[in-house]
Amino acid sequence: MNVYFSKSLVLLMSSLTSLVALLACQAGEAPAQSTPLPSAQTSAQATAQAEAYIWKMPEGFPKPKIPADNPMTIAKVDLGRHLFYDKRLSLDQSQSCASCHLQSKAFSDGLRVPTGVTGVAHPRNSMALFNLAYNPTLTWNNHQLTQLETQMLLPLFGETPPEMAMTGLENELFKRLREQPLYQQKFKAAFPQDQDPFTLLRLTQALASFERSMISANSAYDRYVYAEDDSAISLSAKRGEALFFSETTECFHCHGGFNFTDSSSHTGNAFTERPFHNTGLYNLGGTGAYPADNTGLYELTHLPEDMGRFRAPSLRNIELTAPYMHDGSIATLEDVIEHYAAGGRTIRSGPYAGVGSTNPYKSGFVKGFKLTEQEKADLIAFLKSLTDHSFIQDPALSDPFAQSLK
Ligand code: HEC
Ligand code: HEC
Repeated sequence: MNVYFSKSLVLLMSSLTSLVALLACQAGEAPAQSTPLPSAQTSAQATAQAEAYIWKMPEGFPKPKIPADNPMTIAKVDLGRHLFYDKRLSLDQSQSCASCHLQSKAFSDGLRVPTGVTGVAHPRNSMALFNLAYNPTLTWNNHQLTQLETQMLLPLFGETPPEMAMTGLENELFKRLREQPLYQQKFKAAFPQDQDPFTLLRLTQALASFERSMISANSAYDRYVYAEDDSAISLSAKRGEALFFSETTECFHCHGGFNFTDSSSHTGNAFTERPFHNTGLYNLGGTGAYPADNTGLYELTHLPEDMGRFRAPSLRNIELTAPYMHDGSIATLEDVIEHYAAGGRTIRSGPYAGVGSTNPYKSGFVKGFKLTEQEKADLIAFLKSLTDHSFIQDPALSDPFAQSLK
């Protein structure tokens, strides 16, 4: 196993401390509304473009919390969308955020693990991106990453592993962007109050605004629940729903709530807890250990009880985001059900051999169960009713360069 991977994410975070500090400091210095706008014309323009963003979600779906210093505007979301799909954001201009986050796969990538521009593989599976504004913590196992504005510093500038590998190349990055008339227009439209909007703070704010606009709330199951359309899901899916929310499978304990995860925060809920769980995926040599490059929350806290604890991802769009788990080590939904039915995965040989069901750090909710073939099919039918086909076809989230500039 590559030594890169065994390096702690704490180290990675500390290598980013200066950038995070820079962001904080820029945020403090950012000219607020008090700064007069350059001209009356710009002011009228600015008002139009700073128009508040209108959320697209069904009634009853909670509103996300938005950071006070980065309110949603149409112009910011638009700029962020361009940046998300722009390969200029990587060292050799070969990868954009969208290289590992494809709309057709609910912004995951279909790979076990991705490879960054320098050819180094990431130890973890590319996460699907939707309803991000509700996630109280970001990435598979980090309890300290709480802001989208900060999370993206990892793919952009992180070195363990390098992804887009722009470490130390901020000036080069903004030179590339400044040269584009498109960005001259879009950065100014998004941040009309700035003398010079070509800063890391503004780039992260625009990208985060686009990320927050990725709302997925129109699955068949949503139409069944929010629009009370009883025919939106099949009888099989309805039986699967009952199983999902039963004490037999216990799925709902960790994947419950409107976003199908217990890791959720929105307006009107005072969520502070940060739940991470060990589902018994590994048990190296019976010690409870997970592979050294993926020890979960333990990687950050070094507390024994945090071994193998990961965030329970949302199960929305789960049909589209195989392979599964933090390391992409389960290929199909059928195999995921087998893993839980067995109360943990058994690996018979090789370096990862061990009986996951006896992992001492495993959650008590992963206790195993017996389902008939029909019941397993029902559970999967329910999971597939969480697929939002309009989300993966939404033109507002698609590649803006697809026909035009590139
Ligand atoms: C080389 C592939 C790759 C690239 C390029 C990439 N990502 Fe990711 N992304 C990942 C992986 C892998 C994870 C999981 C990381 C982890 O758990 O440590 C992830 C996780 C995330 C998450 C966390 C989602 C959640 O629910 O917690 C967000 C947000 C995200 N990426 C946004 C971005 C943005 C924005 C960019 C561009 C600036 C980007 N990614 C570029 C692979 C990539
Ligand atoms: C104790 C909490 C817990 C329970 C109970 C639980 N899960 Fe999970 N689930 C998790 C965690 C944590 C992960 C990520 C684990 C990892 O990657 O190591 C996960 C991952 C998954 C994934 C893969 C997600 C992805 O994006 O790769 C699926 C699918 C899933 N669970 C379905 C279920 C179903 C179905 C049930 C009920 C049979 C269930 N879970 C019960 C916590 C739980």
